[in-house]
Amino acid sequence: MITLRPRRLRRGEVVRALVREHRIAVDQLVQPIFVAERASDAGPIEAMPGIARLTVHEAVDYAREIFALGVRSVLLFGIPAQKDAQASGSYATDGVVQQTIVALKRALPEIVVMADVCACEYTDHGHCGLLDERGNVENDATVQLLVRIARSYAGAGADVVAPSDMMDGRIGAIRAALDCDAYTGVAIMAYSAKYASAFYGPFREAAGSAPQFGDRRSYQMDPPNAREALREIALDVEQGADIVMIKPGLPYLDVVRAARDRFDVPLAVYNVSGEYAMLQGAIQRGWLDGARAVDELLTSFVRAGADIVITYFAADYARRHA
Ligand code: PBG
Repeated sequence: MITLRPRRLRRGEVVRALVREHRIAVDQLVQPIFVAERASDAGPIEAMPGIARLTVHEAVDYAREIFALGVRSVLLFGIPAQKDAQASGSYATDGVVQQTIVALKRALPEIVVMADVCACEYTDHGHCGLLDERGNVENDATVQLLVRIARSYAGAGADVVAPSDMMDGRIGAIRAALDCDAYTGVAIMAYSAKYASAFYGPFREAAGSAPQFGDRRSYQMDPPNAREALREIALDVEQGADIVMIKPGLPYLDVVRAARDRFDVPLAVYNVSGEYAMLQGAIQRGWLDGARAVDELLTSFVRAGADIVITYFAADYARRHA
């Protein structure tokens, strides 16, 4: 009886590389960027070491730097100077995201500019949509607002609009409006399965978008549900989503795998702010080997089946592997 010896193919780096099942390509990573309208709002984010809120000008320089390293897609989030109940800053022609889209496409015509479509950074109450008199987020009125935001990003030259609000029916409404405006080439990346997660905490600090009352559980998904995620994805695909996303990443790798097995559209995963903060916290204390931990983490997303990985580590990964 011979002994089966899987260790034979682990004997050296070259043979390990030969039989490696998954690789991360820098151009499948997307770097999120926070852009502040007021220079006084720019600066480091305490819970996200290494990530800062940038001015429009700084965002362009940063995008140029990471583009040269091979990270050629960015996802924009705006921090407006003013917030109000109607989120009017979100669809302003000269809004901070709109200005950044224009500046990025002028500086780097090839870059893929994705823009997050949501109201929470623009509302004074911090919810992802418009409220009725009882303080509930009104679905259909919010969908109209999201359509307005998406049109305005498309008008500024965004390549991809990415609704992150979790309202029902928004993908179909946005697709119809973009097509009607002849923005047929603008793609939709749907935050299809976005869970009501504790891991968005640092983002809300960064964007000043924590809800002023209540939470997001009436629109974001309940963490124990996986079948429901597949149903949400199916609805978004039916309504015309070009790319579907699962968010957060690390606690939902089972959902990523299930979605990969079921759907043939490009699949994105969002390695969110809390996952970044958790790892950086341990790396900064010397509790983890940063380079190895980050590479292993990003590999887990690709192995689970994601085509696109949205991660605050994108630039870091590219720098280390340049
Ligand atoms: C906006 C939005 C959020 C994130 C992406 N888009 C915050 C939220 O839903 O509270 C989170 C991203 C992250 O944590 O990195 N709705």
